[in-house]
Amino acid sequence: LKPDNFTIVIFGATGDLAARKLFPSIFELAGFRHLPDEFRIIGTGRRDLSHEGFREMVARSLANVKDENGNLKGFLDRIFYVRLDIEEQEGYYRLHGEIMDAEGQPGVCSNILFYLAVAPALAPAIVGNLALAGLGEKNVDCGGWRKLIVEKPYGINLPSACEMNRAIGKVFSEKSIFRIDHYLGKETVQNILVFRFSNGIFEPIWNRHYIADVRITIAEDFGIRDRGAFYEEVGLLRDIMQNHALQLLVSVAMEPPVDLSADGVRDEKAKVLRSIRRHKPEDAGTAIVLGQYEGYRNEKNVAPDSRVETFAAVKFFVDNWRWKGVPFYVRAGKNLEKSLTEIVVSFKCPPQNFFGNGDGCSYTANQVIMQIQPEETIALRFGAKRPGEDVVTDPVFMKFDYRDAYPNEGMTPYRRLLLDAMAGDRMNFIRQDSVEYSWAVIDAIREAVDGHRPEPYPPHSRGPESAGRIYG
Ligand code: BG6
Repeated sequence: LKPDNFTIVIFGATGDLAARKLFPSIFELAGFRHLPDEFRIIGTGRRDLSHEGFREMVARSLANVKDENGNLKGFLDRIFYVRLDIEEQEGYYRLHGEIMDAEGQPGVCSNILFYLAVAPALAPAIVGNLALAGLGEKNVDCGGWRKLIVEKPYGINLPSACEMNRAIGKVFSEKSIFRIDHYLGKETVQNILVFRFSNGIFEPIWNRHYIADVRITIAEDFGIRDRGAFYEEVGLLRDIMQNHALQLLVSVAMEPPVDLSADGVRDEKAKVLRSIRRHKPEDAGTAIVLGQYEGYRNEKNVAPDSRVETFAAVKFFVDNWRWKGVPFYVRAGKNLEKSLTEIVVSFKCPPQNFFGNGDGCSYTANQVIMQIQPEETIALRFGAKRPGEDVVTDPVFMKFDYRDAYPNEGMTPYRRLLLDAMAGDRMNFIRQDSVEYSWAVIDAIREAVDGHRPEPYPPHSRGPESAGRIYG
């Protein structure tokens, strides 16, 4: 599916995200002929750069991307630069002028995708100034379109997310806003829905009658790197739990959608988020444990007495017909013993355990284990007879491995999501109601632990010792 001819305007084009993810993804899309015949990329930033200077910078960010068809030169020729200070109107008129330079190329200056690769708090100023310069969606005359991609986190709590949406909503309609959560662009995450709803054998038992609990882990074996200032403002609950972790939970818990339209899927996701039981102060220490790795306070741009969390373990309940009473244990953290993103769905034990292995059923409990990374696998765990005289069981696994089955295939999350946004497919972008419900969940957790100090944990460990308490 090729999108219409268009211009992509990147705010924050000289920044880290643009260099690491956006330009490589757009270049790859061009290489795979996923882009329209005519397109232009306009980068904006505060630095004073010529088009040529900016192209050289982009070329450096593409140094590790394969250019099998010799497309690089032609790609760079489509890139332009406009110096612009986000708060100052003047630059937006220059941007308007640069966009209109392509007037001779049908579609290129009437279809515009704005990518905000900047701190989300800057979004209202950007869209306000776009509108004043005649670049907002409401300024589109017949035929063209405007789309806006916004990076997470969308606000820092429910009131700020609503405020941000109000400001953006004055200039762009909901159908043109693409709130990106790159987890939704991962093949293994998209596959959760396919696994659940394209197979007849799992869905009948995918509920509180058969499932004992769900465990979701997003563990990283590195710290906050050079993002001290960001982490001090945000913390792990807002950086990972509000978005990536809750989105995984939602994919496991949602009902089948009425169809695969963007709103068909997003209606069901919003319902799950709305059904998550809000935490209360008495949950602190039992259903919520926050941690901070030792040494965090010595990181650059971190306060020496910081109380910001780099780890969270939370026990959730989804209070709806399907899940009532089933705990969802979600853990995420920085600087843990290994990097692992995984969902483990454990089934209840059979009513009688004939096969004495001393440990009861939990030793061989049936599980569906979806590993998102570093491996991309789905394993089914079950008990099998250990060879020998005694009839005892051992846990064994049946495993599907994406990379074995589809070597050299698949798209990186940013490539996938950019393509979706260009084509106008909103299924894997977050709708405003989901943003609000998930902030309500996170705000309740934060209120419940207000005043508590996160528990220190040694780097490269399994997290704070009391995290185990959430399992009851
Ligand atoms: C980002 C967070 O959204 O996701 C980072 O800001 C985190 O803190 C990253 O490290 C994890 O993404 P991935 O795809 O590497 O699991």
